[in-house]
Amino acid sequence: MARNKNKQIANWLRRTAHVGALIPAAVMVRDYFTNNLTFNPIQELTQRTGDTAVILLVLSLAITPVMSLTKFRALAPSRRPLGVYAFLYALAHVTIFVAVDYSLDWGQVFSTIIEKRFTIIGALTFLLMVPLALTSTTGWQKRMGKKWKSLHKLAYVIAPLAVIHYAWALKADIFLPLLFGSIILILLTLRFPFIKKNFNAKVASLVQMLQRKATPTT
Ligand code: HEM
Repeated sequence: MARNKNKQIANWLRRTAHVGALIPAAVMVRDYFTNNLTFNPIQELTQRTGDTAVILLVLSLAITPVMSLTKFRALAPSRRPLGVYAFLYALAHVTIFVAVDYSLDWGQVFSTIIEKRFTIIGALTFLLMVPLALTSTTGWQKRMGKKWKSLHKLAYVIAPLAVIHYAWALKADIFLPLLFGSIILILLTLRFPFIKKNFNAKVASLVQMLQRKATPTT
């Protein structure tokens, strides 16, 4: 009974992840057709797709630590869609840069990437995302066994790189990149077994204390 309920919650959360991840794309399409993409639509779309990719990347990274802290396993099926959508937005971001901004002029694309150094980090981030996206299916997960887990730990390199590219692209007002960077740092720190164990123990004792306080004494 409880198992069925958990499965229902997990399915609902997974569907919410799909819908939530598609909303920014739908808004972009709407704004394109209603001429609401500022006076520089290419730049606006580059920025929006980049921002969404980073947000989804951070959300997908947060799932494992949040699950291990809260024991709320129903979050697990949402991890994969969030990661895949992060890649799809990054792909859209790069495609706009290469195909729309530079009209597939590869010479110009490469010289701009080398010239604007923050785009080198962007390109590296994107290249590292490709193998994760290609092996994101259950079939590849089974085929690769333990190697799959090791490969997908690359997400912890990809996320900080994406945030560096983000902060470097903005130059001024780096509040959001700093916020995302701090969240990633916390998530990374929580992956260390020693810290994870101590943190989990502290959260468990806090929950117990709150439960005791909430229970009325007779
Ligand atoms: C070949 C790879 C990439 C190239 C050439 C590239 C290029 C660019 C450029 C030119 C901008 C500045 C846009 C502007 O304000 O005019 C930018 C910003 C940005 N990029 Fe990339 N990028 C790449 C990969 C990525 C990846 C993989 C991600 C995320 C996972 C990403 C996330 C962002 C973000 C968040 C911004 C800042 C958007 C804003 O101003 O709000 N980029 N990128």
